[in-house]
Amino acid sequence: MKLTDRLLKIASLVSKGKKIADIGTDHGYIPVYLLNKGTIPFAILADVNKGPLENARKEVKYNNLIDKTDLRLGSGIGVLKKDEVDEIIIAGMGGILISELLEANKEVAHSVDKLILQPMQAQEELRKYLLGNGYEIVNEVLVKEDFRIYEIIETKYTGKNTILEDEIYFEVSKKLIENNDPLLKEFIDKKIYKYNSIIKKLEGKNGEAVEAKRNDTKAIIEKLNKLI
Ligand SMILES: C[S@@+](CC[C@H](N)C(=O)[O-])C[C@H]1O[C@@H](n2cnc3c(N)ncnc32)[C@H](O)[C@@H]1O
Repeated sequence: MKLTDRLLKIASLVSKGKKIADIGTDHGYIPVYLLNKGTIPFAILADVNKGPLENARKEVKYNNLIDKTDLRLGSGIGVLKKDEVDEIIIAGMGGILISELLEANKEVAHSVDKLILQPMQAQEELRKYLLGNGYEIVNEVLVKEDFRIYEIIETKYTGKNTILEDEIYFEVSKKLIENNDPLLKEFIDKKIYKYNSIIKKLEGKNGEAVEAKRNDTKAIIEKLNKLI
C-alpha cells in the first residue's frame, strides 16, 4: 500500500503515540499506515457506509492489525465516546458536512487534543464555523496531488472565538501566510484565475446585480494580489 501525497501529508500531522479516530475512513489507509509505522498504538476506523468500512476491514486484516483497531459503522464522531481517542481525522468530505459532524457531537469534538480536517470544498465555510464556534486554527498546510491543491486544517477547541480583520482570511488562511507555505503563491494564483474567469463571464452583461458582482470580484482579486 502506497499512500498518495494528500494522505501522507494528513498522516504526517498525527502526533506520535496518540490514539486516533479516522472518520470517513473508506480504505483505511491512513490509520493502517500509522499503525504499521508504529507512530500510533491504536485507531478507530469509522464510516457511515458498509462498503467503505468493509474495505477498511480488509486492509486491517491484511496487515494483521485487528488487535490495534476498532471498526465502527455510523455517522461522524457520533461513533466515539469522550476520551476514547486523542486526535480525530476527518478527510475527503465537504467543509459543510465536516462542520455538521463537529456540531452533532460537541462533547467529543471539544474534548480531543487535535482535529485534522481536510475539506474537499467549502473550506471557507468550515473556517467560519471553526473560528465562530470556539475552535482555534492551530496550523494549516497545503499539499498538491496531480493538479489539485488540498488544504489541511489542524484545529482544537479552546472556547474562544476568533474575529478576523478581513473576510479574505476565511479564503486564504492566515496560517498559510505566516508559514509562507511553499504552495501559497500557486494556491492564490489559482484563486485569482478563478475570479478573473468570473469577471470574463460577466463581460457584456449589465444591471445592478451584475455590477455589484463585478465590483465584489474585483475587490477580492485586489486583496488576493496583496497577499502574495
Ligand atoms: C471521499 S471518501 C474519503 C476517504 C478518506 N478519508 C480520504 O480522505 O481519502 C469519503 C468517505 O466518507 C464517508 N462518509 C460520508 N459521510 C459520512 C459521515 N457522515 N460519517 C462518516 N463517514 C462518512 C463515505 O462513506 C466515504 O467512505
